Amino acid sequence: SIEKDLTGKKVLITAGPTIETIDPVRYLTNRSSGKMGYSLAEAASLRGADVTLISTDVGLAVPNGVRHIKIESAQDMFEAVKNNMEQDIIIKAAAVADYTPVETYDQKLKKQDGDLTITLKRTQDILKYIGEHKASQFVVGFAAETEHVEKYARGKLIKKNADVIVANNVGDKSIGFKSNDNAVTMYFKDGTQVDIPKQSKLNIAHEILSHVKEKGFK
Ligand code: PMT
Repeated sequence: SIEKDLTGKKVLITAGPTIETIDPVRYLTNRSSGKMGYSLAEAASLRGADVTLISTDVGLAVPNGVRHIKIESAQDMFEAVKNNMEQDIIIKAAAVADYTPVETYDQKLKKQDGDLTITLKRTQDILKYIGEHKASQFVVGFAAETEHVEKYARGKLIKKNADVIVANNVGDKSIGFKSNDNAVTMYFKDGTQVDIPKQSKLNIAHEILSHVKEKGFK
């Protein structure tokens, strides 16, 4: 049986892709399936935590006992996070769109001759906002990289004022996006790092939670 070592702890998790609407039939999204974030929600809930999960409808079952807030866009996710900041641990496993269309059309865009240009604007960086506004929350960011994993992950740790960045190499098809397995390296603010070798996302989730707990969220 699983030790309920997170009993009484409040954990907020974001998972999966965001959906950025162009018109009633078209949108921009990415390759995230939600499996990593949903596994974290399942693991935390099994260990007794009070878990809130924020995601789009990714087609996965919401784990037992988990409160789910369904959103679509990066802006929706930002507002849901902002309204639920009172947590012990905040984990940002979501693949948030960095850009969203400047204009969203109420009617289906009609085909026209020649090329079509859609102008995009930057979205709010949710992890950065959390880093700037956190009190005692232990903040876990993710980094999806295809190269220079350590350099970029350590950069994000500082830029976003997170307590740890969980880096995964999404250039490797057998891990990262969509697969049932992952392999990650955790880069902590105190300079230490932990390699978690390839295994199921649920096992990776348990390992991440154990290391976060060990580092002691204040
Ligand atoms: O969903 P799966 O198919 O299981 O795949 C899991 C995963 C690969 C998506 C996951 O393990 C992962 O790496 N998630 C983070 C993906 C990502 O967007 O990384 P990033 O390096 O672009 O962003 C860094 C961090 O900033 C992330 O914690 C992200 O949630 C956050 N961010 C990014 C942009 C933005 N506008 N707001 C944010 O908060």
